Amino acid sequence: MASKKITVPILRSRKASDGRRIVMVTAYDALFAKLVDESGVDAILVGDSLGTVVQGRPNTLEVEVEDIIYHCRAVSRGVGRAHIVGDMPFMSYQLGPEQALENAGRLVKRGRAESVKLEGGAHIAESVRRIVSAGIPVMGHIGLTPQSVHAMGGHRVQGRTDEARRRLVEDAKAIEEAGAYAIVLEGIPLEAARDVTVAVAVPTIGIGAGPHCDGQVLVLHDLLGLTDAFQPRFLKRYESFAERGRAALSEFAREVRSGSFPAAEHSYSIAELEEGGRLRRIAGA
Ligand code: KIV
Repeated sequence: MASKKITVPILRSRKASDGRRIVMVTAYDALFAKLVDESGVDAILVGDSLGTVVQGRPNTLEVEVEDIIYHCRAVSRGVGRAHIVGDMPFMSYQLGPEQALENAGRLVKRGRAESVKLEGGAHIAESVRRIVSAGIPVMGHIGLTPQSVHAMGGHRVQGRTDEARRRLVEDAKAIEEAGAYAIVLEGIPLEAARDVTVAVAVPTIGIGAGPHCDGQVLVLHDLLGLTDAFQPRFLKRYESFAERGRAALSEFAREVRSGSFPAAEHSYSIAELEEGGRLRRIAGA
């Protein structure tokens, strides 16, 4: 696996026509970030989805900038190659360009994010411009924007009408013009995603947006099946860790209760420790 660090100019150059689609996955801690990085993924998003998958909340609205900073720093310790995107949580940029820049700066300075992601279209273009002008790269995010869950009446597919699809294209162009280097398209029909992808020169990264995007992103816990509660149509599970994890934990519980764990090979004895042999190596002593 090539070890060249993935940078914003590299991601920016990845329109799918050259056959190298962007692969992005979320991560929230050093261990999983290392796993994701070692698998050759291009970008790791420290998403505000941590509100649901890590903090167990019903949506992303209560996530704080401090939460993203904490998880971003942890992720940065596990990553050598992938680009790290820090998500700007609800109400960390909605007050305007100055608030947006201040919080984007905190994600970079304290969280070690290498770029930031904001939800919204033309109405946040000035904030995107302000952040980019300070040298912080911005990834956009339009379509189903989970921070607007109440306005949307739930996590519903967007861009269903001709007019809504036109607005998506306008929003994408507005944030591209403001300086975004890539745009996440979430929860929209594949036709709308194709229209947006054709309309902008920066790469689009889809989630629930069909095959025409320049890249794809999934939430790590969904992709690996660490949770099996969430089963939308767009999600493909590549593993079933929840099932396998439950089986392993049940076996552990059964063995503890029956007394078959720990066995002799998992236990230290004075006699063997004094020999300094096999058990020392097992213990890493
Ligand atoms: O927070 C997140 O994980 C996201 C992705 C779903 C794109 O925004």
